[in-house]
Amino acid sequence: MEQYDIIVIGAGPGGYVAAVRAAQLGKKVAIIEKRKTLGGTCLNVGCIPSKALLDSSEEYHKAKHKLGDHGISISNVKIDIKKMMERKDKVVSEVTSGVDYLMKKNKITRYLGLGSFVSKTEVQIKGEDGKVETIAGKDIIIATGSTPIEIPTFPIDGKTLITSDHAIALEEVPEHLIIVGAGVIGLELGSVWSRLGAKVSIVELMPRLFGTSDQATAGLAQRILEKQGLNFLFETKVLGTKAKGKKVEVEIEDKSGKKSTLEGDKVLVSIGRRPNTDGLGAKEIGIEFTDRGRIKVKPNHFQTNIPNIYAIGDVIDGPMLAHKAEDEGIALAELLAGKAGHVNYRAIPWVVYTWPEVAWVGYGEEELKNQGIEYKVGKYMFKPNARAKAMNEADGQVKVLADKKTDKLLGVHIVGPRASDLIAEVAIAFEFGASAEDIARSTHAHPTLSEAIREAAMDADAKWSIHS
Ligand code: FAD
Ligand code: NAI
Repeated sequence: MEQYDIIVIGAGPGGYVAAVRAAQLGKKVAIIEKRKTLGGTCLNVGCIPSKALLDSSEEYHKAKHKLGDHGISISNVKIDIKKMMERKDKVVSEVTSGVDYLMKKNKITRYLGLGSFVSKTEVQIKGEDGKVETIAGKDIIIATGSTPIEIPTFPIDGKTLITSDHAIALEEVPEHLIIVGAGVIGLELGSVWSRLGAKVSIVELMPRLFGTSDQATAGLAQRILEKQGLNFLFETKVLGTKAKGKKVEVEIEDKSGKKSTLEGDKVLVSIGRRPNTDGLGAKEIGIEFTDRGRIKVKPNHFQTNIPNIYAIGDVIDGPMLAHKAEDEGIALAELLAGKAGHVNYRAIPWVVYTWPEVAWVGYGEEELKNQGIEYKVGKYMFKPNARAKAMNEADGQVKVLADKKTDKLLGVHIVGPRASDLIAEVAIAFEFGASAEDIARSTHAHPTLSEAIREAAMDADAKWSIHS
C-alpha cells in the first residue's frame, strides 16, 4: 500500500492549497478528488464562473447604459449567451488546469475518485469505473467543502428549480427569475441575469441583507441594487411551487400572514450551503460533528477528535469563503510541519461582487453596540472622490469604525466601485492592528478610489477629512 505523510481529501481552495504548502515544506502528499477537474466548488461552479459572468454582464450593461455618458455611442448592442458561457467555461478550464500544473510542479500524487475512510490512517479511493485503491497517511486532511442546501418542498430538477450550479449555465435569459434567499449567491447571480434582461424577484426570510454585518451599509447597498431593478421581498416565506406549463408558480407568505403567488420561469434556491461529508465514512470511524453538521475541530488547530485527522474550509465552522479555506490550508500545512500556522478570523474580508461591490472587514455598528464596545465613526462618500468621478462610478461610501479610546480599527465597510480590491489595504491594516490614524497618515496615490478609505479614516480619527 502506498504510504504518504499527508493525504488530502478534496481539491478545492482549502485542499489544494494545503497540499501545495505541505509539499513545499517537504511532505510526501497525496490529494483525492472525485471531480475530474481540480479546484473544487470555487473554481468549477463557484467563485470563478460567477465572476466571469458578472464581468461579462457588467460589460454588456456598461455598453448599453453607461458608455453614452463618456461620449461613446454603440448602436445595436446584443448579447450572445452561448458565447458568454463559452468564455466562462474557458476561464474555468484555464484556472482548473492551472491547479493540475501546481500538483505536478509540487510532486503531489493525484487520485481521481471518491475518498472514504477505511480506518484512522487508511483511505480508499473508488473510481467511476468501480476500481478501488487504498492508500495510507500519517496525517489526513478533510477538505470536502459544501453543496447547496435544498428545500424539501422545492425539489431541484435543474430545469425550472435550480441551484447556483445551474444558474451559472443557463442557455437563455429567463423572463422572470425568482430567487429564494438574498444572500451572496442571490445578489451576485441575480445581478448577472438582471443585467442581461431578466426580471428578478428575491424572496428573503430576514428583514435585511447580509445578516450581522453593518446595517446602514447593507441598507445603502440594498437601495442601490433596488434602483438597478432587483426586487426584494423581505420577511417573506416560500411555501411551495406548482408547475404551470413551462412556468412555475411560487406561493409566498409575508410577515402579516398574507399569501400570494409569484409566477416565473426559473426558481433559484440559494439559501446557504451544507458541509459535504456524504460517502466519506467520517462518522463510521468516530469523527465528531457540530450540531450544524460541520466537522468539529479544535479552533485554529483544525484537529478533529481523532488526533491525526484534520479538517479545513467549508466543511468546518466559519464563513464559507474560498480565501478562508485557503488560509486554513496554509496554516494547517505549516502546523503539521512544526511551524506556527495561524488564521486571524477577524481580519478576513467579505466581498459581494455586485456593482457597486460591497466589502467589509470586522464588526458592524450593531455588533459593537451589542458588545458594549465604545466606537467612533468616519464616513466618506465616493461622490467627491476624483477618480470615482472620472470613472463616472460615484455610488457608495466608505465607513470606518474605530475604538473610541485607542483609535484601533474595529470595522471598515465599503459600498463602491472595485470595493473587492480596495478592501485589501483594510485587511492588512487589521493584520497589523492599525488605528484609523495609521490609514489617515499613509500616503495614498492620487487620484485613486483608495483615497476614499483614507478620507473616511481621517473622519474617524478626529474629523479632519480634507475633501468633504
Ligand atoms: P470546495 O471548494 O467545495 O472543494 C471540495 C472538493 O472536495 C470538491 O471538489 C468536491 O468534489 C471534493 N470532494 C468532496 N467529497 C469528496 C470525497 N469524499 N472524495 C473526494 N473528493 C471529494 N467564495 C469566495 O471567497 N469568493 C467568491 O467569490 C465566491 N463565490 C462563490 C460563488 C458561488 C456560486 C458558490 C457556490 C460559492 C462561492 N464561494 C465564494 C464559496 C467558495 O466556493 C467556497 O467557500 C470554497 O470553494 C470552499 O473551499 P473548500 O476547499 O472548503 O471546498
Ligand atoms: P447565504 O448564507 O449567503 O445566504 C442565504 C440567504 O438565504 C440568507 O439571507 C438567509 O436568511 C436566506 N434564507 C434561508 N432560508 C430561507 C428560506 N427558506 N426562504 C428565504 N430565504 C431564506 O447563502 P448563499 O447565497 O446560498 O451562498 C452560500 C455560501 O457561498 C455563502 O456562505 C457564501 O459565503 C458563499 N459565497 C460567497 C461569495 C462571495 O464571497 N462573494 C459568493 C457566493 C457564495
